[in-house]
Amino acid sequence: MEQQKGEVTIVSDGQATPAGILTPPREGRWYDTFSYIANPERFCRQNLEKYGAIFNTSVFGGTTIFVGSSGAIQMVFNGDSKYTEIALPETTMDMFGEYSLFQHPELHRERKSALKPGLTGRILEGYIPRINQIIIDGLSNWSDGVKVSLYPAVETICFQVLVPLLLGVNLDEINPKSFEGLPLSNSRELKSLYKTYFDGFYGLWKWKSPLTAYGRGLKARAKLLEFMRAVIRRRRASQEPINPEANFLSMMLATQQQNPDGIFSDALIENQCLLQLWASHYEISGLVSSLIYQLGRFPQVLAQLRSEQVKITGEPSQLNTLLPEQLKQMVFLEAVIKETLRTLPPSSTANRRLTKSVVLDGMLYAKGCTIIAEPRLAHIMPEHFHQPEMFAPERFLPPRNEGRMYEFIPFGGGVHACLGAQMAMTITKIFASHFIYLFDWQLTGEASFVQFPLKKIKNNYQILLQKR
Ligand code: HEM
Repeated sequence: MEQQKGEVTIVSDGQATPAGILTPPREGRWYDTFSYIANPERFCRQNLEKYGAIFNTSVFGGTTIFVGSSGAIQMVFNGDSKYTEIALPETTMDMFGEYSLFQHPELHRERKSALKPGLTGRILEGYIPRINQIIIDGLSNWSDGVKVSLYPAVETICFQVLVPLLLGVNLDEINPKSFEGLPLSNSRELKSLYKTYFDGFYGLWKWKSPLTAYGRGLKARAKLLEFMRAVIRRRRASQEPINPEANFLSMMLATQQQNPDGIFSDALIENQCLLQLWASHYEISGLVSSLIYQLGRFPQVLAQLRSEQVKITGEPSQLNTLLPEQLKQMVFLEAVIKETLRTLPPSSTANRRLTKSVVLDGMLYAKGCTIIAEPRLAHIMPEHFHQPEMFAPERFLPPRNEGRMYEFIPFGGGVHACLGAQMAMTITKIFASHFIYLFDWQLTGEASFVQFPLKKIKNNYQILLQKR
């Protein structure tokens, strides 16, 4: 078989595997799922050292091929609807439900492009003053000279930012009447229901019972949908005109008003509010707390960041009004966030299943196998990142310009690439700008991390804050 380097050849059903073609090394082992869940980073690193950047596993059952080299990642991300499809465990698919993005390619494309305006571009820029204010208010509750539990403290503020932006509900900390007429009575209840829903995605047993994470997750999902239905009813009853730029919910309601027979049914709207909060809250909270942790470990990076901030925001009083233009100028901050995402990627990409066999660079990826493009492999490969073990944000800036497409993949790629990457960067930049302006902090030793499903610093890890 004649093949150019990087060329993907689809092998038709029934066609014999061409001679001289290899299959990925390593046999799947019965305990692979447990090893991976216990510590995905260690699992990836150890297998990378032993077998290289492409290897077989039995993670989540069947044959799951892990890939980390840019060529194979490109093959995975470009396969949608040609030779791959999203393949998530049944428990996860039930938790997503039929109104998620993970549907057949046509529906996926239609839904994704309809949702995009509410999370990106001009509308996202319009959210900036509110994000600013909520973060400033949240940080004003962080006291001087005390130890705070880093992740829970960050998570509280991220929730306060994301709920109004995505669900269109101000929290009761902001307006005591926010929950009036709704089936939940305060933000604590909402947050705890969300956590139960989130945990349900990763339940390993598909048994609808209060005894399983899956069963509890489905129940929480039903209650959250009921909550969203009431939010929408209340919004309509208020008779005020809907401003499509106010928040993600309003964008969908306004589009529905303009085109009642279009894509935005009530069911899609209420489900999408839930799903976007699910997709964003823990990921952003994990990223912001990891960023604060990394800055605590590398004071010279923090000093460089502060000098960029002074150049861009000028007088400190102007920090209250961070502008989209200023956020764009924060290129070093962006590089530090990327380096945090490279070194501590919060999650893997979604699993894809091969609907056809393909051959790439002399390697066969067989039909029916699951395939995972792993940032935990790609981000530590010297072929992609010079001295990958170093924390070096400047690698993302000229002249190095590392972090090319298919090599730096914290947000996945291809048609399923993360829809909230811009929003995540915006919120993280605003959070970091205020935090490093307001506080100095000391770490209390090395942090331990929860490794799965999302990487995040453990709840009990503290930092000692000092107001500047
Ligand atoms: C640090 C923050 C975040 C990280 C690290 C992250 C990471 C990811 C990853 C790895 C994927 C899978 C992509 C793939 O398999 O190719 C994904 C998908 C997705 N993310 Fe994010 N995400 C973040 C924030 C957000 C936010 C803020 C939102 C929305 C408000 C969001 C919405 C989505 C959606 C809708 C998808 C599915 C896209 C599709 O299937 O077409 N994410 N994200």
